[in-house]
Amino acid sequence: MRTLLVINGPNLNMLGRREPEIYGRQTLEDIIESLEALADIHNIRLFNFQSNAEHEIVERIHQAMDDGTDYILINPAAFTHTSVAIRDALATVSIPFIEVHLSNIHKREDFRAHSYFSDLADGVIAGLGTKGYELAFLAASEKMS
Ligand code: DQA
Repeated sequence: MRTLLVINGPNLNMLGRREPEIYGRQTLEDIIESLEALADIHNIRLFNFQSNAEHEIVERIHQAMDDGTDYILINPAAFTHTSVAIRDALATVSIPFIEVHLSNIHKREDFRAHSYFSDLADGVIAGLGTKGYELAFLAASEKMS
């Protein structure tokens, strides 16, 4: 059985209530539920992790080196634009990943256009809302098979 780790960064625990005009009305629980349903169908083990703290995300990525994780989906949220530490953690463990954003970061403020992750990622999905997670899951599932 292949293992997929889904990581969500800061403020994504507030989805559904957070700027719904940008991020929609679905909660993080809704997103994880839909991924769990897909994981059942595709016979993939799913790990789910959300944190508002940079060091916790770094540590969870380190753990992935030893817990059987084959692939990572990550929405680094605001850390997308700031975190060399999380970028370095992904490079350290050398586990392939897809970067996901609910909103189109290229259509927003200039500071959101730069990502510390995109040049390391297998792929990047932005602007498709919660559907982006499902599409990333399907791509990851294919890559793991
Ligand atoms: C986000 C985009 C980031 O710029 C922002 O800081 C987030 C969410 C997205 O999913 O659209 O928190 O990653």
